[in-house]
Amino acid sequence: MATQFDLNGRNAIVTGGARGIGRATAELFLKSGAAVAIWDVDTKAGEAAADALSRLGRAIFVHVDQANLGSVETAAEQTLSMLGGVDILVNNAGIAGSNAPLTHYDPCEWSRIVQVNLVGLYYCCRVVVPLLTSNGWGRIVNVASVAGKEGNPTASAYSASKAGAIALTKSLGKELATTGVTVNCLTPTAVRTDIFAQMSEEHIAYMLSKIPMGRFGTVEENAAMIAWICSEEASFTTAGVFDTSGGRSTY
Ligand SMILES: NC(=O)c1ccc[n+]([C@@H]2O[C@H](COP(=O)([O-])OP(=O)(O)OC[C@H]3O[C@@H](n4cnc5c(N)ncnc54)[C@H](O)[C@@H]3O)[C@@H](O)[C@H]2O)c1
Repeated sequence: MATQFDLNGRNAIVTGGARGIGRATAELFLKSGAAVAIWDVDTKAGEAAADALSRLGRAIFVHVDQANLGSVETAAEQTLSMLGGVDILVNNAGIAGSNAPLTHYDPCEWSRIVQVNLVGLYYCCRVVVPLLTSNGWGRIVNVASVAGKEGNPTASAYSASKAGAIALTKSLGKELATTGVTVNCLTPTAVRTDIFAQMSEEHIAYMLSKIPMGRFGTVEENAAMIAWICSEEASFTTAGVFDTSGGRSTY
């Protein structure tokens, strides 16, 4: 990944940083001079990612299940004691869940998707925002999805959770507008990562068919947009929605 941004001296949390878009973001942040705490529920993959990325700078792993408020509070305490402060929060962790019509969707799975993707994101903001406002500077990027704008069929819980993440971003961005902390969200379209294993082939083909560029996005393209939003230069943009959707979403 050639592109770099000036994140020197910044401490960043990247949730779901063990793999996929989160790992690529952690890598670009490290190359750009930030220290990175990878928060993930998958300890084995998270430790392996932090170990591998440590050659680029200060990379630590912190276990968290973001669906649990107590776990998020503990992760924040551990991160503070190890890094000494937090400047950037990338709320990237998420699950897709399986594909089924709404009337056939398992109610427990439906609730779990919203709990992880939306309530968990809220927990991370709730716990980390005071650390950022006390600095008088901060960047939050919530990784939503184009599904939250358009609604993908057979993915009602995922689409609803991501629409919620977009609305939370707009609300919190306005709440924090005079604090020096910006809050924006990213709405990627499909990127071939491990998350595809949760979806049906039919659903993956549907998503690809909706992308005017005729290809999936890459983790690097999403990481680059996230890093730009977290840069010093992106100082007059908050409560915004940034697309990485190959032309699918034009509003
Ligand atoms: N890949 C895509 O097609 C795509 C498209 C649009 C949006 N997104 C969003 O981008 C984000 C990253 O997706 P990805 O494709 O890299 O996924 P991924 O499955 O490769 O990685 C997600 C990471 O989140 C972690 N995670 C899951 N539940 C967690 C929890 N409760 N607490 C902490 N960590 C948890 C997983 O262990 C995993 O390491 C997600 O929010 C996803 O919804 C992905």
